[in-house]
Amino acid sequence: MLSNPSQLVLRNESLFSGREVLLVGAPQDRLSQELGAETSVHWHWDWLAHQYVQQHGGRSHFGVEPPDGVFDVAIVFMPKAKSRLQYVLQQLTQILPAGHRAYLVGEKKEGTDSAGKWLATLGDGAQKIDRARHCILWEVTVQAQPVSRQDIATQKTLPIAGSGLSVAFWPGVFSEGRLDEGTALLLEHIPELPKGPVLDFACGSGVIASFLLKRQPALALTAVDCDAFALASTQATLQLNQQTGVVLPSDGFSALQGQRFSSIVTNPPFHEGFRTDMAMTSRFIRDMASHLVGGGELWLVANRFLPYAEALQETFATVQVAAENPRFVLYHARRG
Ligand SMILES: C[S@@+](CC[C@H](N)C(=O)[O-])C[C@H]1O[C@@H](n2cnc3c(N)ncnc32)[C@H](O)[C@@H]1O
Repeated sequence: MLSNPSQLVLRNESLFSGREVLLVGAPQDRLSQELGAETSVHWHWDWLAHQYVQQHGGRSHFGVEPPDGVFDVAIVFMPKAKSRLQYVLQQLTQILPAGHRAYLVGEKKEGTDSAGKWLATLGDGAQKIDRARHCILWEVTVQAQPVSRQDIATQKTLPIAGSGLSVAFWPGVFSEGRLDEGTALLLEHIPELPKGPVLDFACGSGVIASFLLKRQPALALTAVDCDAFALASTQATLQLNQQTGVVLPSDGFSALQGQRFSSIVTNPPFHEGFRTDMAMTSRFIRDMASHLVGGGELWLVANRFLPYAEALQETFATVQVAAENPRFVLYHARRG
């Protein structure tokens, strides 16, 4: 199966023939295989762990920085956050020489229709060259000078539970530059945790991890997320606060096989792209239970409209509402 943006790329394959193509943030589909080894030499730059794992072999690069090298063409798949798009385009100036072409593809609902202004980072005169399946393909010729690599994370002091915490945000990380209302509810009400390993699941900027370590510096903390920009943010946030923890890329619990924690603390994802995905959420809840020691506890904050209570009750020995407000609920669940 090919996603709509990939189908639009594929029907323009002749533009990339015989070129060294870099696919940037490409969806988890068969585009790479469909493009064909004879017509294009293609690389991937991915920042989502599950996309990276699915892609083939040594031509994939996972991280917040582009792969080393110089490419003939880059095809950027529209990221959700505009700050990430801007960052990615700036990084491309280092690996796409002047005169080379870059393409941007994405669904109209992702804001691709008005993406020309962002492409000005690479050069003037960006053009829409094709549209189909609710998607648009833009083309621009690189004119910009390479933008030097710099420390890109922005720092903010967030007001948390009556005090301030310095948090670092890489572009496009969840709740960039501010404290999420659900996370705020969790941090206001979570008590000190018992001794033993703690997991911050889906750590984002690392705000939860850093708060917990500030209050209990001796905690053995692990933080995971599937997004390289979240991991870079968490690492920077811990460093900013002179804290240490294990920070790992993980699609769900994939990097945590066989590990068990005394506590798991989370504001979990419930979206896959633009869709609410309850199957993913239920899977995570079962995984949370199986990664807790007997008697271990889960602190989970969620939007009120999501049916977490049933999923938790099916899996955990006890489930309580520890705090709530009109929009969010903080659940405290204990494993039997
Ligand atoms: C609601 S945010 C919470 C971030 C942070 N803990 C906070 O409270 O600000 C959820 C996080 O889940 C991550 N995420 C989404 N899908 C994931 C997956 N399959 N595995 C691990 N993390 C995932 C996202 O990258 C995002 O950082």
